[in-house]
Amino acid sequence: MTAEKAGFDHFMLKEIHEQPKAYRDTMLGRISDDGRSVALPELKITAEQLKEINRVHIVACGTALHAGLVGKNVIENLVRIPVETDVASEYRYRSPIITPDTLVIVVSQSGETADTLAALREAQRCGARVLAITNVVGSSVAREADDVIITLAGPEIAVASTKAYSSQLIAFFLFGLYWAQTIGTKDEAEVAHVLAAMQSLPEQVEKILAQAEVLKEVVESISHHSSLFFIGRGIDYAVAMEGSLKLKEISYIHSEAYAAGELKHGTLALIEEGTPVIALLTQEDLYEKMLSNIKETKARGADVLGIINEGHEAEVAKSVDRQFAIPRTLPLLTPALSVVPLQLLSYYASLALGHDVDKPRNLAKSVTVE
Ligand code: G6P
Repeated sequence: MTAEKAGFDHFMLKEIHEQPKAYRDTMLGRISDDGRSVALPELKITAEQLKEINRVHIVACGTALHAGLVGKNVIENLVRIPVETDVASEYRYRSPIITPDTLVIVVSQSGETADTLAALREAQRCGARVLAITNVVGSSVAREADDVIITLAGPEIAVASTKAYSSQLIAFFLFGLYWAQTIGTKDEAEVAHVLAAMQSLPEQVEKILAQAEVLKEVVESISHHSSLFFIGRGIDYAVAMEGSLKLKEISYIHSEAYAAGELKHGTLALIEEGTPVIALLTQEDLYEKMLSNIKETKARGADVLGIINEGHEAEVAKSVDRQFAIPRTLPLLTPALSVVPLQLLSYYASLALGHDVDKPRNLAKSVTVE
């Protein structure tokens, strides 16, 4: 077993550390040599068919759905087509409006999740084209979807998904850019600009991983609390949801993710002296708004950890108790970096509390019952 873990204590930690490779492998061969366009030859959907699509549904479960929430931001930003996201176990039962011009994207690490597979079949029954983003070649989802983008994260053993999630983000970036270049919502220079930033992500994750020990110390401030909050705005909110799920899955600490501006409409009542709040502040255009949301929590006694962009350290220090800085990238790409400290935090919290990191109670890696 030790050999399989390549010297790491747990599969989860190994898989967190495999993310730079997973990003490189998922991008490999999909970016032109001159770095100016995306090639996805595996897609059967034609340029003409892509031009006809006028709505997107992203359907998945658990962590894969959280990748889909980022995917919504990515597609709406790059392609300017409305995207809805839905929990696979709800989608099928609510008579979703699916037309032949709807592209349904199912996201599944295993490609075997029963609810996701059922949603795929329902979408096809209603005449939609289905694109699958999955990590497993030959899985049920991969076999039945009309188009497939394989993430090359490699096998994921730990129940708590890490590298599969972040590779799904890379797949969304690539697909969003491919679609944008195909229908012309982004010109070549804009696509090249995003691709250049994407190619720096693996190295930037390595930089974050090199500071993992910092988070080990921070964990003391959360592991003895029974409840905490993750807050963020925009794409940070999507990442906050994944951070919260990760923590719950393996540390069993109750947490909630909140759109930061929504806190004052109810949840602020739960903040008291010492309540841990993890605040994501990677979106420059929402930075001031986030600072004021953080102040709202501080005024009620919250103990705040800020996940911030490099360069803001001195300024943010006035508003938070602790901080962790991630390297600078484009606003749309930040989830591929900001999720890493949250994964590490969950890992260290689980470890500190003496839980089975790789096999949390009550959970399975792949859920093949509806
Ligand atoms: C299970 C796993 C989660 C995962 C979800 C969806 O609940 O414990 O980590 O996100 O299934 O799995 P999938 O294989 O479809 O991505």
